[in-house]
Amino acid sequence: MATIEIDGITKRFGEVQALAEVRLTVADGEFLALLGPSGCGKTTLLRIIAGLETQSAGRVRIGERDVSDLPPRKRGLAMVFQNYAVFPHLTVFENVAFGLRMAGASKERVTAQVEQAAALLHIEALLKRYPAQLSGGQRQRVAVARALAVEPAVLLMDEPLSNLDALLRLEMRAELKAVLEAAGTTTIYVTHDQTEAMGLADRIAVMQAGQVVQVGSPSDIYDRPKTRFVGGFVGSPPMNFLRLLVEDGTVTIGGLRLDAPAGAPSEVLLGLRAEDLTMTQDAAQGLPFELRVAELLGPHVLLTGTVAGQSMRAMVPAGTTSALLKPGTVLHLRPDRERMSWMNDEGIALEARP
Ligand SMILES: Nc1ncnc2c1ncn2[C@@H]1O[C@H](COP(=O)(O)OP(=O)(O)O)[C@@H](O)[C@H]1O
Ligand SMILES: [Mg+2]
Repeated sequence: MATIEIDGITKRFGEVQALAEVRLTVADGEFLALLGPSGCGKTTLLRIIAGLETQSAGRVRIGERDVSDLPPRKRGLAMVFQNYAVFPHLTVFENVAFGLRMAGASKERVTAQVEQAAALLHIEALLKRYPAQLSGGQRQRVAVARALAVEPAVLLMDEPLSNLDALLRLEMRAELKAVLEAAGTTTIYVTHDQTEAMGLADRIAVMQAGQVVQVGSPSDIYDRPKTRFVGGFVGSPPMNFLRLLVEDGTVTIGGLRLDAPAGAPSEVLLGLRAEDLTMTQDAAQGLPFELRVAELLGPHVLLTGTVAGQSMRAMVPAGTTSALLKPGTVLHLRPDRERMSWMNDEGIALEARP
């Protein structure tokens, strides 16, 4: 097992700056998700850690070793990529055994390791088949089993579930989490899917335009976004933001008056999660919300509308009197004062809430 230290990694592709001084430490046995939109530099960072791409500046350390200038095979890690490359001409057994054979493992060790990895991924019954005789999800398991069979100190995965349908993805997500927790492997998992990152990771590093903008536990990232971008990218629906003026230390929205944080600038953004809004009869306790659309989403109803001309979404329990949910109705939504995110007008968080 090993720690991973990414120390000031910068990467330029000609004119394009793909990574700008990325600093990140992954603890021994930790599962870190690299989360961000397409093009933010996730794959480039993973490929640099793997040694498949050369950094323009910075160092990568795995455990005690500086691996920055080592070829991939000398870095002691395993990878699973988005387009999981299983060898079509090899059986599942030989696919899983591949890394071990390359490393010159004994016949006994190959058998033992393949059986163990196959058991973890529930593919024992498939070992004699060829990849063409497998479903996409089974092939995915083979790719993961192959990576785990070599007992890597470090496992790098780049959107390994992105080609699976939603149900299978959900199933594989749970499986992977259990398997990697049991193995205690240090894992970096790249995804653009925030629910995947939230569900899987011990910690999430959120990336934007070649930089890591926030690192924290899933609840940290969700409850205390450091920027408007993070609040909007993590969570479904995204965090709501109201642009408000501060007068005498307070903001007023309809009949509701809220204390702004001490030292707030004259214009602020108030971040509110949809589920932190509750319907109330008391106009002085609620945001005046003009309803445009109500959508039933199983246990909740997602309300879309406006507050003071600014768009807003709220989640209320299903079963809320449907007469209240007619488009055009003005509802009053009470924000949970403990869970508000205050930011300056550039979208930078004003204070760390307890
Ligand atoms: N080989 C390359 N040559 C030129 N530009 C590249 C190359 N690889 C990636 N890029 C650019 O670097 C940025 C980051 O890409 P990438 O790491 O693939 O993002 P992500 O995996 O987050 O979608 C993008 O702007 C992409 O176009
Ligand atoms: Mg990518």
